[in-house]
Amino acid sequence: MSGSPRNAPPELPSVTVRAPAKVNLLLQVGPRRDDGFHDLVTVFQAVSLHEEVTVTPAEEFTVTVEGVGGTDVRGVPLDDSNLAVRAARLLAERAGVTEAVHLHVRKEVPVAGGMAGGSADAAAALVACDALWRLRSGLDALAELGAELGSDVPFGLHGRTAVGTGRGEHLAPVLTNASFAWVFVLGEEGLSTPTVFAECDRQRASGYEPRPGRLEAVETALRSGDADALGAALSNDLQDAAFALAPGLAATIAVGRRAGALAGIVSGSGPTVALLAPSAPAARRLALDLAPVFGTERLRTATGPVPGARVLEAVSTPTPGGRS
Ligand code: C5P
Repeated sequence: MSGSPRNAPPELPSVTVRAPAKVNLLLQVGPRRDDGFHDLVTVFQAVSLHEEVTVTPAEEFTVTVEGVGGTDVRGVPLDDSNLAVRAARLLAERAGVTEAVHLHVRKEVPVAGGMAGGSADAAAALVACDALWRLRSGLDALAELGAELGSDVPFGLHGRTAVGTGRGEHLAPVLTNASFAWVFVLGEEGLSTPTVFAECDRQRASGYEPRPGRLEAVETALRSGDADALGAALSNDLQDAAFALAPGLAATIAVGRRAGALAGIVSGSGPTVALLAPSAPAARRLALDLAPVFGTERLRTATGPVPGARVLEAVSTPTPGGRS
């Protein structure tokens, strides 16, 4: 800390935070509520595809976006509707911060893919700005702010494996030592989450009976670490709606199963398909075997669970003479 007086911490020129994508191991959708959202019972698992957000002090809130590993970022807004910008602005407003930041987002998570990439950007931006501005808000306060931005943002902050209720924003951790291996097959075009929920409502107009015992089956499989049991327990109430809007997804799952996946499921509202493999080496083999069918640019391997949004790097330059 050379050059800084004792009680003046060095200024942080930039902070980089990494936040994970998610897959829903269970997605049980209740009826549409008066506020337009649906009550969910879901099990989130954070997986090792990450977004990285770097924040740097700036005159105004601005954002740049870069695709990593071939991620197509053309659908990402670069204006104030960008979720990372909205997160930074919201935290500044609530904390009374008058400074602005430039946000650089490195995206590894498919855009509009049902893996909560935008929510991960918001989660990462909250943690990064909290560190840059030295707010020490705490995870619970950031999660409360995050829930205003999107139902999946609190999970992006917490990570690991959790049961989500309400809109998905109320979280209870599921303790598991097991690691699971996934192959993700990216859709050729994004699906809009509200459209998929609306299609689910339409399909259910004539009634819906939830199958009992699904949450317990997922929790038991997670606790035992049994990938076969987890494969049998995976379920997603949005899947039929995603199939209706993106014909071809059912065939993608069937191809994955024939190539050796234990199970395949649409991730969240899709169109990414999540294939569960027996082990990480098996996932790599499965991705190699699927490459001639889908092309390597549409395939990703990952493991879960992984932690939520974390600071990767906080660059600080000692300020000669300190700040006043
Ligand atoms: O909260 P988030 O921005 O991710 O939600 C996007 C859209 O998905 C909502 O506007 C709503 O149409 C739908 N949604 C829902 N019920 C939820 C979560 C999302 O209907 N629990």
